[in-house]
Amino acid sequence: MYNFEYQNPVKIIFGKGEIKKVGTNIPSGAKILLTYGGGSIFKNGVYEQVKAAIKGFEVVEFGGIEPNPHYETLMKAVEVVKNENITFLLSVGGGSVLDGTKFIAAAACFQNGDPWLILTKRAPVVDAIPIGAVITLPATGSEMNGNSVVTRIETTEKLSFASQKVMPVFSVLDPEVIFSLPEKQVANGVVDAFVHVIEQYLTFPVNSPIQDRFSESILKTLVEEGPKVLADRNNYEAAANFMWSATMALNGLIGVGVPQDWATHMIGHELTAYHGIDHARTLAIVLPGVMNIKRTLKKDKILQLGERVWGIIDGTDDERIDQTIQKTVDFFESVGLPTRLPDYDVPTETIDTICTRFEKRGYKIGEKADIGPAEIRTILESRL
Ligand code: NZQ
Ligand code: ZN
Repeated sequence: MYNFEYQNPVKIIFGKGEIKKVGTNIPSGAKILLTYGGGSIFKNGVYEQVKAAIKGFEVVEFGGIEPNPHYETLMKAVEVVKNENITFLLSVGGGSVLDGTKFIAAAACFQNGDPWLILTKRAPVVDAIPIGAVITLPATGSEMNGNSVVTRIETTEKLSFASQKVMPVFSVLDPEVIFSLPEKQVANGVVDAFVHVIEQYLTFPVNSPIQDRFSESILKTLVEEGPKVLADRNNYEAAANFMWSATMALNGLIGVGVPQDWATHMIGHELTAYHGIDHARTLAIVLPGVMNIKRTLKKDKILQLGERVWGIIDGTDDERIDQTIQKTVDFFESVGLPTRLPDYDVPTETIDTICTRFEKRGYKIGEKADIGPAEIRTILESRL
């Protein structure tokens, strides 16, 4: 196992009816900017619960944060924060609203020029406005991490940054928010969380049985509970287990002291940037190709995944690897996510565009930093 430091300051408030505790976790006298997305919070009762919980605070509202939040929109919120002397940001929505709110928090305090540099040059985030979150969609793990992914429409770029400074002070996880989620978003959430674990698990062994077994338990829970949530959105127990799985998948815990991949995410972000494909769906497209092309480097862990999560024990190593990839594809498809580029009407020229972009960036991705434009082409062309 590698050396590591781990600090996660996010207070998790989990369970039915817990949105009522939002107000008591915000410093008294704070002036709040309540951020939200396209309006789902008005239809499912979350907005009313939040408003009741923050009664007595001065509140300004900023809505319209898009899925895959737009830099252009977020910069408008930064203006509101400055003009209104906002001291606390309250994100009420899915990963996009929370990621967007993290960027607003950092950009409003940024002193070194254009805040876009936080994403393009990884300019350090020295300060940020404190954030509280009510998460309404289990998927990203954003509620318990310092990551944020932002899209700039003008340049068709989807980029990320990470900082301890934008980790929420608290996050409320009330599984009842899942009751109003469309099937598509539940399926996306299951697959996104699944692939978050894979990115931290499916690399090469460094003798880390705790991280491995935690990872496998999250994967198995997603495989068991995801379909239950899809079948019955009012199954509170399944919703609770799904929600906690998504948080645990990307709160840093399973990734300590182990190599991490993230190539699937990096390539997937390009498909979203160019074609607006939902984040999780891009992962379902890319991961099988990554597993296939890296079957030698990842051999031990793919075999372990196959045996411990999918129960695959028969056959030669190559056969077991093929079966493990197929089982993973079958799972994605079983929850409703197509896994091939043509399923999304993506023209093959997009593959050239993405490879050219990675060539210009001049760095390689994956746990061994050995996936460059040529490998990315193979990954994207492997299942046309
Ligand atoms: O905008 P509203 O009206 O709220 O509707 C949203 C949106 O249309 C809707 N929704 C959310 N909660 C709902 C609901 N509808 C009904 N009932 C509810 N309870 O769902 C739609 C999608 O929401 P979005 O926030 O975009 O989804 P998700 O949580 O999957 O977030 C995706 C974004 O997170 C980034 C992705 O790249 C993408 O931009 N990621 C963030 C990560 C992180 N911070 O660590 C890691 C991930 O890998 C990912 O990259
Ligand atoms: Zn993801």
